[in-house]
Amino acid sequence: DPGAEADQPEHGLRVFDPGFGNTCVSESKVTFVDGRKGTVQYRGYSIDDIVQAKKSFAETAHLLIWGQWPSALEAADLQKTWNAVPELPQHVFDTIHAFPKNGSPLGMVIAGLSALQSHDMDRIPAHVGKNLYLHNDTLATESINYLLPSLAMVVAAAYCHSQSQAFTPPSPTLDFVDNFLLMMGHVDASTGLPNPRYAGYVETLWILLADHEMTCSTAALLQTASALPDPVTALVSAIAALYGPLHGGAIEVAYKDISAMASTPDGVTRKMEAVKAGKERLYGYGHRVYKVADPRYKHIARILGELHAEIEADGLLRTAFQVDEIAREDEYFKKRGLGPNADLFAGFCWGGMGFPPEWILVISLIGRTQGFMAHWREAMSGPPRIWRPGQVYTGELNRKMES
Ligand code: ACO
Repeated sequence: DPGAEADQPEHGLRVFDPGFGNTCVSESKVTFVDGRKGTVQYRGYSIDDIVQAKKSFAETAHLLIWGQWPSALEAADLQKTWNAVPELPQHVFDTIHAFPKNGSPLGMVIAGLSALQSHDMDRIPAHVGKNLYLHNDTLATESINYLLPSLAMVVAAAYCHSQSQAFTPPSPTLDFVDNFLLMMGHVDASTGLPNPRYAGYVETLWILLADHEMTCSTAALLQTASALPDPVTALVSAIAALYGPLHGGAIEVAYKDISAMASTPDGVTRKMEAVKAGKERLYGYGHRVYKVADPRYKHIARILGELHAEIEADGLLRTAFQVDEIAREDEYFKKRGLGPNADLFAGFCWGGMGFPPEWILVISLIGRTQGFMAHWREAMSGPPRIWRPGQVYTGELNRKMES
């Protein structure tokens, strides 16, 4: 084998594992997902217990990122720290406003974050050549506390641009979730404040989707973080991975597919036949880890029920349930253990609250960034080792140049 020498391992055993189905790349104390039993635990606490205890966004972020529940005073202090983060500089708005209004939401957010980072080197230092964050938990914590509210502002600024509406600055007296809804212009006309019912749903959805251990985007974040850049750069890598239709981008594709299925009488049957014939995928279905029902679904189903009146309006949820009924009974899906992923039905909750389908991923991203930052902080506290996977070279070798 002419390639054998080039593929020699540095030391020890080398495995060929395309897609990393059987490879663990790090140790972590953040989140445990049991795909066979169908459970998720953040720092050892079941998400069922967390949701039932009605923990706030700030409390759950504290648990995930810093490893323990905060006292009431610590949670209030964390919120105060977030409220003290300055408003976005004009330069960030200008960058976002340079995009067409119907441009890619994730593209706007990535550009907005990059503009923020290049403007604000004092808060998120990005000096090439220095390992600023490694084993510097004070700086890592300051950066995370700057990044989380700034990301919410960037998302809201991009959303307002897309909807041709004015951006409302955050209020120093509101919490993270209410401020997000305020900035998005998602307020009751009578009070000028977010609807408390919707704020409760956003909080629960963000908690449920806050982390899911080594997802493709978390791996992208950690791969980039292993080269020790600043956290914004690592986050941008994660967002780029999230964008793909096999990952977070699946929800937008699923919405479009469900609309297409709903638009003709035999739409569902035709789609399901194409899927079973291996010609198409059913987006929003399938998961690398879960072999049983997604444990987050029952909480999402409760919210779906409570938002029934709002969601019924477009009838798409009915089509989604029709698809689900077929999939549950069908051998193709049963044999492969393919069920709906939580993000699919969570998408209907966001839709029911009035958010357009193309913004669902970006809004979910804010919740997931708690998890991203927990993993990033953990990586910065460990021994540094750049992630540099191997490959199996299958090309030619030692070819002669033509004269
Ligand atoms: N529709 C139809 N068939 C599917 C689907 C699907 N959604 N997902 C997997 N399969 C089939 C595959 O064709 C394959 O069949 P085969 O054994 O006959 O070849 C088998 O199930 C195994 O599929 P893999 O692609 O090997 O599964 P993997 O674990 O690598 O992929 C993934 C997981 C990417 C989520 C996949 O299920 C998929 O493409 N789903 C659709 C996209 C999607 O919804 N992604 C969101 C995931 S959750 C999230 O990131 C927010």
